[in-house]
Amino acid sequence: ELYRWSGFQHRKNEVRMLITRKTEFSASHLCRNPELSAEENQRIYGMSANEHGHGHNYVVEVSLEGEPDPVTGMVLDLKELKEILNREVVMPYDHRFLNYEVPPFDRQVPTTENIARDIWRRIERQLCNENHRLHSVRVYESEDLFVDYFGDGSCSA
Ligand code: NI
Repeated sequence: ELYRWSGFQHRKNEVRMLITRKTEFSASHLCRNPELSAEENQRIYGMSANEHGHGHNYVVEVSLEGEPDPVTGMVLDLKELKEILNREVVMPYDHRFLNYEVPPFDRQVPTTENIARDIWRRIERQLCNENHRLHSVRVYESEDLFVDYFGDGSCSA
């Protein structure tokens, strides 16, 4: 019997779990849309539109959904997940000025929402197979502001 849980088809009595790994990076950004006037940018983004930019200590939580392997007892080797996050997120993002150094933010406003979507895009394919898939990417811009992104359901393994 098949049924669906958060969009992922699986069999009844399967043990589905979420595992989460946290990582951090520090980066600068500014939020300004070149298609809008200076006044509009100021109104929408406030101080964040300041052309000299400002920094955040971002915290990222990546959650995988899957069934623990009967032999290893693990959904995915967390060491492997750490390596993927280091390679795909920390290396390209850490100590960068996102608008100038990290595509697609040369042409896309680096809001927390867009950062969450870009991180999803960078790691999804490597975390999608018949045993597990990426469930969510949470990005904290500060302790009291975070975004959750659940993708577009394109993992159909
Ligand atoms: Ni900011």
